[in-house]
Amino acid sequence: MSRKSRPEAPGTQMPEDIEAMIRVDHAGEYGAVRIYEGQLAVLGVRKSASAEAIRHMAEQEQRHLKAFDALINERRVRPTALEPVWRVAGFALGAATALMGEKAAMACTAAVEEVIDEHYQSQVERLGEADPELKATVEDFRADEIAHRDEALAQGAEEAPGYRFLSESIKAGVRLAIKLSERI
Ligand SMILES: [Fe+2]
Ligand SMILES: [Fe+2]
Repeated sequence: MSRKSRPEAPGTQMPEDIEAMIRVDHAGEYGAVRIYEGQLAVLGVRKSASAEAIRHMAEQEQRHLKAFDALINERRVRPTALEPVWRVAGFALGAATALMGEKAAMACTAAVEEVIDEHYQSQVERLGEADPELKATVEDFRADEIAHRDEALAQGAEEAPGYRFLSESIKAGVRLAIKLSERI
């Protein structure tokens, strides 16, 4: 086995791996904020349980984004160059699903959070004993994202028309966004 293909032991990540993690998480939390802003632009005036749920989730995403804003600054990590893309794409995804109805908005949240849960879990595993500050942050936020997914499912996400297609398309988009934001 060549040196290059040897799997890395947990906790021995190069600093650039940590940097990529902070960059992609910052981008993701920004995207989440924009998705909820898009949904609230459409559903924000409603008094429904779904609209209430979205407002609560949006507040938590603001907390997540603030924490990664701070990490980006403290650690001098280059933020993603794709921010203008996520600014528009996040808002558009949120607004479009909200226009399809409250259940489609919930299907969007369930899909996004399912991928983010996997993403944060994989970061926790990759971090191992490295960077306890980042790891604690990721674990903390992962618990919120799981709660968002469960709330969205409780609000009838799976009853959205075309749920399977909608969910799979959004998950594929989020996975691509993660890949791009780690590097770019
Ligand atoms: Fe979040
Ligand atoms: Fe979330």
